[in-house]
Amino acid sequence: MSGVSIEGAAEVLRPPADALPYLRSDRADELVLEGGAVALDGDRVAGFEPDATATLRVDASGCTVLPGFVDCHTHLPFAGWRAEEYELKVTGVPYEEIARRGGGIASSAAAFGRASDADVLAQARRLAGEMLASGTTTLECKTGYGLSVFAERRAARLARELDAAQATTVTGLFAHAVPDGYTADAWMDEVEALATSVDVDALDIYVETVAFANEHLVRLAAMAQATGRPLRAHVEQFAANRSVPVAVGLGARSVDHLACLHPEDLDPLARSETAAVLLPGAEFLGAEHVAPARDLADAGAICVLGSDLNPGTSPVAAMPTVIGLAVRRYGWSVREALLACTLNAAFVLGLSAEAGSLEPGKRADVILLDSPAAHLPYRFARNPVCAVFVAGRPAWVRPDSAWRLDGAV
Ligand code: NIG
Ligand code: FE
Repeated sequence: MSGVSIEGAAEVLRPPADALPYLRSDRADELVLEGGAVALDGDRVAGFEPDATATLRVDASGCTVLPGFVDCHTHLPFAGWRAEEYELKVTGVPYEEIARRGGGIASSAAAFGRASDADVLAQARRLAGEMLASGTTTLECKTGYGLSVFAERRAARLARELDAAQATTVTGLFAHAVPDGYTADAWMDEVEALATSVDVDALDIYVETVAFANEHLVRLAAMAQATGRPLRAHVEQFAANRSVPVAVGLGARSVDHLACLHPEDLDPLARSETAAVLLPGAEFLGAEHVAPARDLADAGAICVLGSDLNPGTSPVAAMPTVIGLAVRRYGWSVREALLACTLNAAFVLGLSAEAGSLEPGKRADVILLDSPAAHLPYRFARNPVCAVFVAGRPAWVRPDSAWRLDGAV
């Protein structure tokens, strides 16, 4: 197939200018949502006029056309789920008690150790398929459920072997929890060995009283710098550990969670080039604090949304649901939410020259909604995605919308 012409859309989302690496969220209202067409040539976006010579013409009447969602924070791959913990959590059993009963990250690590490679990959592929049908065309994977040198290496290898329909990146979250038999300092020595020898695109750490401390974040930053990889960090999820100024000072690509962001750290973060990755699925399902996302957007932060898909805090794979939560709980506009899971999320993964917006020359990752963009949050938790193109090819089409592709699927 050489060309695709998506025609007659009610709304097409475009950035205010080409080649922006990100757009600060106080400028989200500059995103353009107007009717029109999108032409794809091979695996690239070609332009915004209908292409009468295209081999596939798509009837997008009544549809919204968006760049595919970029989910820059997931914990794929993992093995099994922890639904029993969710019931304990909502009925009031404290986290420490759940951990004492064998739950938490350690139980997912045990399940990961028991599962075969084929089983881990099959579950991850199923989830990537769910995400595709919800419009996610680029996704990040993380290690972190290994909790041993051997198993962290295995997690990184399986993430690379995922072979999803989407583009994927792999982040080494080697410092996720302190494995039994180690102190945090001693485990950081192993993290250093992993960081220099395992094939990952970025490094991440969980800073929390139950995990690692700011001094370990400083150590990881040195490893990131030495190996030329971006630094990311899970911070301020359950308490204000004042990790944000540390991460910003170290030039981190992103700080993720921020439910307990200290008020004094908000403006310095908003002025920096460190993205604020917000995870409303984890906040909602864990009855966590709500990140000060309205203030971050107003202050001009590079705001980003992710699913945080994981078996513990956020078994949520669908970006339409994440967008619905963000708009309601953060008081965000639809444009603010869309910006946060497209261009700004691509920036976090170092992919904003390739993905995250509809621009000539970028990868043709395009989704069609069967509704106005405003319905994404409004018809909460409904999935309006009816067709998904990855690199210019139809990767998923909802059966009732196959007619739009004129029998090509
Ligand atoms: O991003 N906070 C740390 N890591 C995960 C949850 C891990 C788990 O409970 O399995 C998160 O929320
Ligand atoms: Fe996470």
